[in-house]
Formats: sequence, structure tokens, C-alpha cells
Amino acid sequence: MATDLSLPPTDATADWVIPQNWASYSPREHHVWDQLYARQSAMLKGRASAPFLKGMDSLRLSRGGIPDFEDLSERLHKLTGWQVVAVPGLVPDAVFFEHLANRRFVAGRFIRKPEQLDYLEEPDVFHDVFGHVPLLSDPVFADYMQAYGLGGLRALNFHSLEKLARLYWYTVEFGLIRESGGLRLYGAGIVSSFGESVFALDDPSPNRLQFDLERVMRTRYQIDDYQQGYFVIDSFEELLHQTAEADFAPLYCRLEDLPDIAPDAIIDTDRVINRGTQAHARSRNPSC
Ligand SMILES: [Fe+2]
Repeated sequence: MATDLSLPPTDATADWVIPQNWASYSPREHHVWDQLYARQSAMLKGRASAPFLKGMDSLRLSRGGIPDFEDLSERLHKLTGWQVVAVPGLVPDAVFFEHLANRRFVAGRFIRKPEQLDYLEEPDVFHDVFGHVPLLSDPVFADYMQAYGLGGLRALNFHSLEKLARLYWYTVEFGLIRESGGLRLYGAGIVSSFGESVFALDDPSPNRLQFDLERVMRTRYQIDDYQQGYFVIDSFEELLHQTAEADFAPLYCRLEDLPDIAPDAIIDTDRVINRGTQAHARSRNPSC
């Protein structure tokens, strides 16, 4: 994990890319991937969005073992022009946005330990690749991710990264989508989590609200527990349209004058799909 973000580590290029060193993974590490893969791929049938499941197939993620980024990038590039590159962990915001803007997804190369199957603080290769990469094979979502990177580069000048990070959080990491059979998962933080892939769809605790760009960018989030609220989009086209075509400069100015919204709040203008009981959050923190 890189903790000093002032300079890339010595084995990295100027844009913080390091070799994945695929040949150095041990059989034990590949086995951890296989265990996680078997568990999540069974769980996600009927839960994950159709483009996510299609992406798993077209990228052949079921082949077994931690994917080789070179091989994965070759297949992905043919579909949408995206690639996957390894980084040492956290990278500076400008580096992250620059990669996205150039259709490169940055992924950690390490994998969690066998005793960490259910919870991990830092994203590992399973979260980054299994969680994020299948949707990069969808042409519209692929364009959304690039648009987000371009928006991030512009946001650096507005000092509005916190608000933009909320958009990433509530879509790329924890988004839900409406499909003909009902709500489905598409956020990487949910689809790569055994517990949250059930909680986000089935549990009565969280709010489920219709996505609204400005509302999302005002909403705080929590990083150490399941979400208290999820935002539902109707399609990736809608998400791309709202993001790529929004003029963020006046939006950032307007947001400066508006108060943040708590993660569990429902406000008058919300279109509520499910009003959550928040029982899960209360059980974790009885003083709430
Ligand atoms: Fe992620």
C-alpha cells in the first residue's frame, strides 16, 4: 500500500503503474480468488445487473485463478477500449482521474488472506477486478467511467472532489439499477461483498431512493458498514446522460450553499422506492 502520495514508488512508472507480476502469485493466492469467485458468482445470479453478468462471461472471468491483467486487458480492449493496470494501492486523485479519462482502470495486485474472505478494509484485486471490470465491458458504462475521469480532472480546479467522490460512491461502488425483473446490483462494492449483495437488495433497513445527481452529491456516506441508503438508476444511459452532459461548474457553486444530507435521511424532494427501517444501523450503534 502506498502511503506517501507525493511520488510514485521506485518500481512504478510516472503514472504509478507497477507490474502485476502475475507469475508470482502463489497457489494459495489463486485459491482465495477461486473461493471468492465461486461464492459471489453463485450469489449474483438473479441479483446482479444483466450487463454485469454478461461482462463476467465475455471476459471469461470463470477460467480460474487471479486474472492476468495483460490477458484481461486484451479481451476488454477489444470490447470497449479499456485496459486494466496494476497500481500499488492508493494513488493521487489526479493520477486516478487521468487513468480513467484514458480508459485505464487501476487495480490493486494483492489479494486478501484466507481469513479475510468476508471483510477487508482496503480494496484488493478481487474487489477491483471482479467488482469493477465486468461492467467496463458494457459500452455505455465504459463511457460513464471515462466521463467521470474527465469530470474529476475538471473538479480538481474547483476543489469539489468530496462531492464528486460521493457520485462515484453511490454509483460505481454502491449503485442499484432497475431492470424488468426488479432492482439489481451494479456497484462494485456490493457485487464483491457476500453480505452486502444480500443486504442491499433484500434487507428492510436501508433506504432505496431514485437517483438524482445533485441529491447524491450532497449525501455523506459511511465507509465501514453497509450503506444506510442506496440510489437507483433506470439505465446506464440515464447515468451517462446526467453526468456527461451536466455543467458541473454551476452545480459545484450551488452545492457550496446547500447543507450536506445524512446517509440515512429522506428529504421532501426524494422519490422513495423503499423507506428503510434503519434497524441494521441502530443495531450497530444503539445510541442512534
Ligand atoms: Fe472499488
